[in-house]
Amino acid sequence: MTHAAIAGWGKCLPPAILTNQDLATFLPTDDEWIRTRTGMHERRVSHVPGIELAIVAAQRALDCAGMDGGELDLVIYGSCSNDELVPNSASAVQVRVGAVHAAAFDVNTACTSFMYALSIGTSMIKSGIANNALIIGVELISRYMDWENRNVAVLFGDGAAAVVLRASDAESGIIAEKLQCYADARQVLRVRGMGTIYANLGVQYGQTRWDFDGQEIFRKAVHGMSEASLDVMRRAGVGMQDIGVIVPHQANLRIVEAVAKRAGAGMDKVFLNIHKYGNMSSATAPVALVEAVEEGRVKPGSLILMPAFGAGLTLSSHLLRWGERVTPLRASSAELPPCTKTALQMVNEIRAQKQEGAAGAPLLEQVKLAESLG
Ligand SMILES: CC(C)(COP(=O)(O)OP(=O)(O)OC[C@H]1O[C@@H](n2cnc3c(N)ncnc32)[C@H](O)[C@@H]1OP(=O)(O)O)[C@@H](O)C(=O)NCCC(=O)NCCS
Repeated sequence: MTHAAIAGWGKCLPPAILTNQDLATFLPTDDEWIRTRTGMHERRVSHVPGIELAIVAAQRALDCAGMDGGELDLVIYGSCSNDELVPNSASAVQVRVGAVHAAAFDVNTACTSFMYALSIGTSMIKSGIANNALIIGVELISRYMDWENRNVAVLFGDGAAAVVLRASDAESGIIAEKLQCYADARQVLRVRGMGTIYANLGVQYGQTRWDFDGQEIFRKAVHGMSEASLDVMRRAGVGMQDIGVIVPHQANLRIVEAVAKRAGAGMDKVFLNIHKYGNMSSATAPVALVEAVEEGRVKPGSLILMPAFGAGLTLSSHLLRWGERVTPLRASSAELPPCTKTALQMVNEIRAQKQEGAAGAPLLEQVKLAESLG
């Protein structure tokens, strides 16, 4: 049976850091609240489009695999913050990494986009449609964040990571997975303002309002991620003692702690980086996976459990078997252009642009929203 082994991995974090103290300069919040309620200390703000983050992560993953773009059959771009919709974002990465023979498409399931894309890429390799696939998780949330809403503005950051999947006879890559969507909870996490329906109503792009029921999301996330994890472990016939490391989606430290407890794991088994990056949506799980490898938490042959959730409410859990190699085959020279502004400067510029843009256009609050969307 063919498997889809992870042959390369790479991340790209924009350098500008937005601290909790920075947020407190324009929001009624403070470092103590954010740390104790979320586990977040800082997050990144990108000075380049999301596609640029994705390209650097992708090139680093290809170098790690010792592969050239021309060997790829497939590029999947997992994101809910695309720089443009037509053409798709995957094709922008494809052209820059020279993946001339590849198919390329985008996947949006919000924060789980990378995990869903990993499943799709794996299935296409297992079915023989592709041999080598590039799977990307990337998010540029800073451009459509509602920076005046403290309920959401403190929670998110920008980033990207990618893996290269390669067909393999050895049992490697995804061993078992569960994908699901609690569609009855569509309303609890919704970004109003992005999409044609809003454009038709004259709302400026980026003028968002986040419908966000944090506590309900919290409950659903804990239930969904722990049940999905127990399900994949049961189906794979493994117990928590067999799992080397848990690499979860990280939207709140308390959510991760609750999931670990319900799944029967101690926190020493969980890889965390939420304090450094906040929630990078689709980029969170792959960045954490890359760092877990870089920091020696993933050993040759390790079993890795990756539970995730996102707007939809989509949820997932993946059980992965790592291969024998935990170091890159080739050093990478892929880099972002230098950043000349602080994160706070960039956020204040985005805030000013939004206020300016709002002057001539109807505010989101004033337009009648099409409730037929469900
Ligand atoms: C958002 C979240 C951190 C809020 O934590 P919480 O413990 O549930 O906090 P509450 O919503 O009960 O709010 C407690 C108080 O803090 C206030 N508060 C909210 N955000 C705040 C902030 N950034 N700074 C200071 N106070 C804040 C609230 O207004 C509330 O005040 P009140 O009691 O006077 O009404 C938490 O619910 C969560 O992480 N939810 C899921 C996150 C998520 O979905 N992320 C994206 C999905 S991928």
